[in-house]
Amino acid sequence: MTTVEIFEVGPRDGLQNEKAEIATSDKIALVDLLSTAGFKRIEVASFVSPKWVPQMADSAQVLEGIMRAPGVSYAALTPNMRGLEGAIAAQADEVAVFASASEGFSKANVNATITESLARFAPIMDAAPMPVRGYVSCVAECPYDGATDPADVAKVVAELVAMGCYEVSLGDTIGRATPEQIDAMLKAVTDVCPAEKLAGHFHDTSGRALLNIDVALSHGVRVFDAAVGGLGGCPYAPGAAGNVATEAVLAHVERTGYATGLNADIIARAGQMALALRG
Ligand code: HMG
Ligand code: MG
Repeated sequence: MTTVEIFEVGPRDGLQNEKAEIATSDKIALVDLLSTAGFKRIEVASFVSPKWVPQMADSAQVLEGIMRAPGVSYAALTPNMRGLEGAIAAQADEVAVFASASEGFSKANVNATITESLARFAPIMDAAPMPVRGYVSCVAECPYDGATDPADVAKVVAELVAMGCYEVSLGDTIGRATPEQIDAMLKAVTDVCPAEKLAGHFHDTSGRALLNIDVALSHGVRVFDAAVGGLGGCPYAPGAAGNVATEAVLAHVERTGYATGLNADIIARAGQMALALRG
């Protein structure tokens, strides 16, 4: 049976947008439960400016407090060298750089043009002692610039792969993409990068995330980011609702005939725990 991997991003993308301060011990408890569910990779931290994303300010304490399960890679976002230094000190197993396919979101999210943000990643790629993943946001729609040209997505993906990212996650940041847009985008992107190096990262604002996952599966993509409880959103992407729920992706892909190796009962419990943290 073909395997689909779900990359759990709830402790980072799921929680980063929550306004009320969530106790570090609660974040640690959520990660510890998720660590028993069968995930190979869990994104738990973000070494960004605490002025920009206050909820992630305790990322080092989260990485210090969790019980690390063997075989699980604990990931952190790193926008610049300062972030990488934090991630190394906290012993993140892998890090992720994040770029945008649209200029409007790039400016709002990291206060830099796309070219400037990619230039910040070069020293990270040189210095990182751990694997580096890449994200491209706004692969179909941008809250500031409207529809994204698939060629612009392909360009940024090619640059991240050339820099050494081991995988590039394609973000429908505001969850507005249609299956037709995802199809056109993936046609362009798979011309410059094999599907084995791609992941889908769908927010579910319009309820089309599972349809978009089906389109991505048809292009050979086998890794999908998701957040337990369907929490999430980006503070710099107005209108961004939650990530597609891990529970929903798990049920959907298993029904479609893929194996995930995940424990649905534990994930259901983690989903309840994540929703309770929302307060
Ligand atoms: P800036 O203001 O242009 O840069 O921010 P700066 O270098 O002038 O730094 C501003 C302040 O932040 C300074 O502090 C720095 O020291 C500090 P001050 O002097 O004002 O006291 N600083 C840092 N602090 C901690 N860790 C750091 C760090 N870097 C600088 N690494 C910057 C530029 C990139 C820092 C800022 O724009 C930022 O942190 N942005 C992050 C925004 C963010 O985290 N967004 C959410 C994640 S992306 C996402 O959710 C999308 C994704 O899920 C995929 C999808 O859905 O599409 C991945
Ligand atoms: Mg996201």
